[in-house]
Amino acid sequence: MKRRHFLMSTGAAVGLATAGLGRRALAAPLRLTIQSARYDLTGTAPTEGMVSLSPDAPPPVLRLRQGERFVAEVVNTFDDYTTMHWHGMRIPVQMDGVPYLTQVPMGQGDSYLYDFTPPDAGTYWYHPHCNTMAQMALGLTGILIVEEPEDPGFDADIPVNMRDFRLGDDGQFIAFYTPRGAARDGTFGAVHTANWQIDPVEEAPAGGLVRLRLVATDTTRVYKLHLPDAEGRIIAFDGHPLNQPLPWPTADAPLILGPGQRADIALKMPAVEGAEIAVLNDQPGGLRPVIRLRASGADRGRDLADLRPLPPNPLPTPDLSDPEVIEFVIGWAPGGPPANDGYCGSLGYTFWSINRVSWQGDASGAGPLATMERGRTYILRLRNESPNDHPIHLHGMSFLPLTSNLRDIARNWTDTALLLQYETMDVALVADNPGDWAFHCHVIEHQKTGLAGYLRVT
Ligand code: C2O
Ligand code: CU
Ligand code: CU
Repeated sequence: MKRRHFLMSTGAAVGLATAGLGRRALAAPLRLTIQSARYDLTGTAPTEGMVSLSPDAPPPVLRLRQGERFVAEVVNTFDDYTTMHWHGMRIPVQMDGVPYLTQVPMGQGDSYLYDFTPPDAGTYWYHPHCNTMAQMALGLTGILIVEEPEDPGFDADIPVNMRDFRLGDDGQFIAFYTPRGAARDGTFGAVHTANWQIDPVEEAPAGGLVRLRLVATDTTRVYKLHLPDAEGRIIAFDGHPLNQPLPWPTADAPLILGPGQRADIALKMPAVEGAEIAVLNDQPGGLRPVIRLRASGADRGRDLADLRPLPPNPLPTPDLSDPEVIEFVIGWAPGGPPANDGYCGSLGYTFWSINRVSWQGDASGAGPLATMERGRTYILRLRNESPNDHPIHLHGMSFLPLTSNLRDIARNWTDTALLLQYETMDVALVADNPGDWAFHCHVIEHQKTGLAGYLRVT
């Protein structure tokens, strides 16, 4: 009977979530129940033993509103410890969902009340931060949208949760990672999905304006995307409206999204009913459609110039006159025992390091990598000494990439910078959010085998 109660309340919550949370009264928090799920991902047989927020559907798209309070009671009915993290959100540290650093993990039957007001509009996502490898691999990665108070004027809003699953021919899970993968670029899944569907087609109004929100929630894959023959522009990156324009992606110069990264694209749909726009990913084996949008109905005759520009988010401007530089060397590990003590899931190996130390994955246990004074500007010098790419993610604060030794980089706000092999990137931030903030590679196999620490803001 308990279980039935959970299912019903989750169903209700999901309905509310898509209807727009911000307009809800705060009397009852949204209830999100982490639970086992099954779902037909492959068309062969339902994949068993998934993790989601309902028994038979992907994690829902949560819609919040900028500046409006969000209260969610996350209930864990799954048979493992967990926490929920809201990736990219600049919120109080108690709400950040990092085990031991910011909260005690939830065991089966436990719950945690997350209560925060998103300061920034844009495209974000949520995922567990304890037993992260397993629970993300099993499905628990969802999109979180913070809507602008003013509607920018789109005819449709299409969130795209891009990720792979590691399944065998029978549609059932195989090992989430391999030591070989963890020591290199990570272990890739062979079942490629968007919104838990293979090569889905979404309808959108012909001649209408679409806000496409591409979210890379995969544990490993770096997406290289372009949209042949489409008319559009990139309007936001990693949540935030652009400071500097990003070029329209092409086959030769695709839009690169590493694990954890997002892009919002304004698109004009073809005028002719039935015509399609494809989002293609360039991956080993060739170009693969991630999702296709099919024009439907009569031509709306919209124009990209109709869109109101996205208002900038209220981010603190770094003072670059006298910043303190903190260097982080990202590299292989000297070897030794597993970094993680097993409280939140160990992969059993140590392959990676920050400043030559392998850290403890999801669970803290050592001191901070650096301590920053509240309100001061810092430059984080991210020095990659390895031949692998690393999407370096900081919780609680956004940062501004300034320079790279390898390429020109756009100074657009982010929380996850894709550091290329042997790249040194300087990024600036104002340390304005007090607390201990996780700082890690978002290739989860790297995070869980040493490439994860935290920064303290006093
Ligand atoms: Cu997307 Cu530490 O998280
Ligand atoms: Cu995060
Ligand atoms: Cu990495």
